[in-house]
Amino acid sequence: MTTHRLRIEAKTALADRIAEFTLAPVEGRLPPWAPGAHLRVALPDGGDRAYSLVAFGPVPEAPDRYTIAVQREDDGAGGSRVMHGLAEGDEIEVTAPECDFPVRTDAPALLLAGGIGITPLISMAHALKAAGTSFRLLYAARSRDAMAYREALADGLGDAFTAHFDDAAAGPLDLAGLIGGMAAEEHLYVCGPRPMIDAALSQAEACGIPRDRVHVELFDNASAGAQAGDDSFEVEIASTGEVVTVPAGQTIIEALEEAGHDLIHDCQRGDCGICQTEVLEGVPDHRDVVLSEAERAEGKLMQICVSRAKTPRLKLDL
Ligand code: FES
Repeated sequence: MTTHRLRIEAKTALADRIAEFTLAPVEGRLPPWAPGAHLRVALPDGGDRAYSLVAFGPVPEAPDRYTIAVQREDDGAGGSRVMHGLAEGDEIEVTAPECDFPVRTDAPALLLAGGIGITPLISMAHALKAAGTSFRLLYAARSRDAMAYREALADGLGDAFTAHFDDAAAGPLDLAGLIGGMAAEEHLYVCGPRPMIDAALSQAEACGIPRDRVHVELFDNASAGAQAGDDSFEVEIASTGEVVTVPAGQTIIEALEEAGHDLIHDCQRGDCGICQTEVLEGVPDHRDVVLSEAERAEGKLMQICVSRAKTPRLKLDL
């Protein structure tokens, strides 16, 4: 995988626990990216974290800087704390941008952001604006202090932008009203924490909105991760009969990779669908936001980056 070494040119506090990083190449050119794209920052522990790229306007064809915004999660796995500990002049290693959350600029859109989930939606909203396509962006945060980019969004998007403060409104966004009121051709894009994604998907399904008009991205890996009470289980690889044990605290992908298998994956949080795998036997424990309720109930498909097993063994079409 191609990586790029970037220098932190500027680090700016945007809101409570949110900092913006402007990243310049140490050498060479930066690859272009599409609205909604993210890059992965390598962490000292060997892991990485995905951060969406931010652009207040059309994405340049030949970018000379990347901008990301990172919210510090004090009870998270530590990636955001590492990022917040960096200073201007420090260097980081990142992957080339990829986009699992593309926007259709030829269809009207309702964009819903929760917290730092605003980041991919900024470039997507500006792409819709540039295309002259009708859209609305609703951005919810706990409070005014917790909201990044509010003034820039209001200036850039005008009436298409609405800020929602949970504390002032005495509650979260009215997802039922917003999604229930969507026009027939409107696409729904949601990026935020897990409860918001789950609620939006349920509402969209209840309203009969086809899944191909609903697009979601979780903003953090942590919310898709292990849960208390997870047990180990076995995965049988149908093509070879090999059986691999997946311990608690490890994903199917991690266990299979440790056993020497090469697998295609990207988000590793259950929202891009790239690791989707057919289940031939056993019952999956779904933890993704890709499948519909009907697909979950059917149990024939699963996202092996996050989902686990309700039975002692899964036979997968691998
Ligand atoms: S890698 Fe994205 S859903 Fe599994």
